[in-house]
Amino acid sequence: MSDIFEWMPEYSIGVDSIDQQHQELFRIFNKLSTAVSQNDSPKSAAAAMHEMSQYLDKHFTFEEPLLKKHPDFDHHHLEHLKFIENTLDFQIRFADQDKTVHMDMLSFLYNWLKEHILEMDKEYFRYLKENNLLDN
Ligand SMILES: [Fe+2]
Repeated sequence: MSDIFEWMPEYSIGVDSIDQQHQELFRIFNKLSTAVSQNDSPKSAAAAMHEMSQYLDKHFTFEEPLLKKHPDFDHHHLEHLKFIENTLDFQIRFADQDKTVHMDMLSFLYNWLKEHILEMDKEYFRYLKENNLLDN
């Protein structure tokens, strides 16, 4: 069994560039989920995992400057760092061919992405918009 993300209007945080990047994260997650559930070659799952971590890097690098004016920016930044640390752990287990890593990783990613976007990103961007602190 694997989870597939479907984009829903409630995921929108109201900034087009960020929404597009979140959709891209969903797309990569689904690729990873499919690779794992269809038991493709380990290579395709590893490739999707690699794509995910690279895209996340890019996404956080883009998102964080926009969030800088939020009074709790440090907290958000820390959440991103903790998340990166977790995905690195998964990548190490992946490289060790740890078979249990797949499902753990998918459920972690699924829950994290969903909660982070729906709660933290949404709330931070709402605050920035309401207080005219969004530059773009
Ligand atoms: Fe975020």
